[in-house]
Amino acid sequence: MHKDIDEIILDESQLEKTVDAIAERINLDYNDKPLTVIGILRGSAIFLADLFRRITVEDCTLDFMAASSYGSSAESSGHVNITKDISDDVSGRHVLVVEDILDTGNTLSCIRDYLLSKNALSVKICTLFDKPSRRKKPITPDYCGKTVDDLFIVGYGLDYDDRYRNLPYVGVLKKEIYQ
Ligand code: IMP
Ligand code: MG
Repeated sequence: MHKDIDEIILDESQLEKTVDAIAERINLDYNDKPLTVIGILRGSAIFLADLFRRITVEDCTLDFMAASSYGSSAESSGHVNITKDISDDVSGRHVLVVEDILDTGNTLSCIRDYLLSKNALSVKICTLFDKPSRRKKPITPDYCGKTVDDLFIVGYGLDYDDRYRNLPYVGVLKKEIYQ
């Protein structure tokens, strides 16, 4: 285990089972609907790569957005900027937003409102992790891998100050690293 990690939250085989279970539900729910999956860069990249290849929906496209609210600190500023917009039109399509972790909800509520304003047929949220105790906006995930306590977690795409994304598991970052 990495020296900056206290405890593993999901190891590689648990991640695989978690992604399998989410994909199974997505495949049932969307089946023959036109689906656009939108990954939120950069945290969702690894999760999305594993999830997307398990989606069997026929009319399924992939796009990306990025938003910033976190700097190098572990606290959300509450102010969200869309720093990368979608490339394709989502009007007439169901949108599934894929995120690494839902924390205060500032980022995803901004992105959801934006996509609804672009005339998506529906906008649902798929997040690998959810920290409901920290929520500031009324938003709940439609698909969620695991609910976590108020701890800072990294790995499998999730970062602290852009580090640790390459860990193949998700673990709790030692407090002394970010305090
Ligand atoms: P929100 O806007 O507060 O919901 O923040 C969502 C973003 O904060 C996520 O996309 C992550 O980039 C980041 N974030 C929140 N909690 C954590 C964490 O425990 N580890 C890594 N990133 C986190
Ligand atoms: Mg992120």
